[in-house]
Amino acid sequence: MVKIKAGIIGCGAIGSELAKFIDTQVAHMELAAICDAVPQKAKELADNLVKRPAIIDMDRLIDGSELVIEAASKDAAKEIIRKCCDKSRNMLVMSAGAVLEDQSILDHIRKKGIHLYLPSGAIAGLDALKAARAGEISSVTLTTRKPLKALEGAPFIAQNKIKLEDIKEETLIFEGSAAEAVSAFPANINVAALLSLAGIGPKKTRVRIFASPQLEINMHEIEVAGEFGKFTTRTENLPSPHNPKTSYLAVLSAMAMLRQIADTVRVGT
Ligand SMILES: NC(=O)c1ccc[n+]([C@@H]2O[C@H](COP(=O)([O-])OP(=O)(O)OC[C@H]3O[C@@H](n4cnc5c(N)ncnc54)[C@H](O)[C@@H]3O)[C@@H](O)[C@H]2O)c1
Repeated sequence: MVKIKAGIIGCGAIGSELAKFIDTQVAHMELAAICDAVPQKAKELADNLVKRPAIIDMDRLIDGSELVIEAASKDAAKEIIRKCCDKSRNMLVMSAGAVLEDQSILDHIRKKGIHLYLPSGAIAGLDALKAARAGEISSVTLTTRKPLKALEGAPFIAQNKIKLEDIKEETLIFEGSAAEAVSAFPANINVAALLSLAGIGPKKTRVRIFASPQLEINMHEIEVAGEFGKFTTRTENLPSPHNPKTSYLAVLSAMAMLRQIADTVRVGT
């Protein structure tokens, strides 16, 4: 079997899990190279893999990979997407917010005929949303409930002088478009981006954020209404064991996509 040569940029919570997954569980792929802005992280990861990948810089990794996997940061993703586009490399991008902020890149990617894979991340329902989009959609709403701890440091909280410690019961603190939500709550950017890109765009997608003192995990509900009827999904996300800010479902969604890339049978939209 000819194996797809993959390279991973970013050896943190997601990149490390995906590296181990490719290393042992994806028969159609080989992990040829990895890189990280902190070289020690790449070294530690390489030391823990069965087949040791090369540790090289980002440009060489992109040159030598048939599939570039980004698991670094939004800013790194912008650079990686541009470079992959210039070099006609297929890519799987975790920092979906980068695409939302530079949607013109989608035209370049399509013109070049290369593949950009954006896994569903920490939300459920993109399959039904994509199906609904083939007809008319009247509304898409994301309702996120977060523990107070997870809202600390959000620009919206500081700008509006919200005293999180005074919130004793579940409170709606933000309601607006996905476009407005990403600057107010940058930690929500990947969810808002994926929902907007799969659906009706960041200006029409509505976002509501509740501060929930009783919760310990992030909860995302998606409600879509249109010609087809209505659907609602809810995910209650446990964190990745290696990064409390990353939902484990996001890691699993990328693993599922890596498997799907080489499968000629596709189940689900
Ligand atoms: N799509 C989704 O649903 C979803 C969910 C969670 C996280 N994410 C995004 O995925 C990315 C990775 O998340 P994570 O939890 O693994 O983060 P992490 O902080 O655990 O790991 C990121 C790693 O990337 C490295 N890095 C940063 N900039 C780099 C650069 N320019 N070049 C090379 N390496 C670089 C860091 O040193 C770190 O090791 C983040 O941007 C995050 O927002 C997406």
